[in-house]
Amino acid sequence: MKRVAVLISGRGSNLANLIEAQDDSYKIILVISNVEGAGGLEKARVAGIATAVIPHPGKTREAFDAEVDAGLRAAGAELVVLAGFMRILSDGFVRGWEGKLINIHPSLLPAYKGTRVHERVIEAKEALSGASVHFVVPELDAGPVIAQASVPVHPSDTPQTLADRVLGVEHSLYPEALKLLATGKVRLANGLAVFN
Ligand code: GRF
Repeated sequence: MKRVAVLISGRGSNLANLIEAQDDSYKIILVISNVEGAGGLEKARVAGIATAVIPHPGKTREAFDAEVDAGLRAAGAELVVLAGFMRILSDGFVRGWEGKLINIHPSLLPAYKGTRVHERVIEAKEALSGASVHFVVPELDAGPVIAQASVPVHPSDTPQTLADRVLGVEHSLYPEALKLLATGKVRLANGLAVFN
C-alpha cells in the first residue's frame, strides 16, 4: 500500500476521483494546496484526509518547494500526484521525487504542452484530443507518458465543452495510472516509462 500525497490548486475533481478509487494499492495520506480555499481541500477533509495549505506568494520557487518537500517527507509520502497543481516545480524538487512524481495534462502529449490547450486544439482543427498521465521531469509536460485516453473534438466545440469531455476521461485515467505506479507495473528507468 503506497502512501500518496496529492498537490492541488483548485476544485479537485481529479482528487475526488483518486479518493474514490483508493484500493489496497494506494492510500492518500495528505493533500497540499498552494491556494487557500481551493475546493479540493474540502473534498479531502470530508474524506478524513490530512490537508495543508502552503501559500507561494512572496517566496522564491526554491523556498516554496522546500516547504512542500518537508511536508511530504514529514507525512511519509512515497508517491506524489499533481492534480490541477498550477505551479512549476524546481529542478531540485523534481529530481528529489524522480520516478515517484506524476501529473495529468489535458492533451495527447507530446502534443499541446503548456497552457491554453483546448483553445489551441480547436484552432488547429484537430479531430482528436485527450489526456495524458506522465512522470514529471524538469522540462514542463515532457516526462514519459504512463497512460493516455482520447476523445473526439467536435466542430461545434468551445474550449469549455472540450475541457469537460477531456475531464471526463481524466477521472478514470488518473486512478488507473496511479495504480500501475503503486503496484510497480510501471517505473521510470533511464528516462523511459518501463512496463513490467
Ligand atoms: C485538469 O484538467 C488537469 O488535466 C489539469 O488541471 C485540471 C484540474 O482539474 N492539470 P481538477 O482540479 O482536478 O478538477
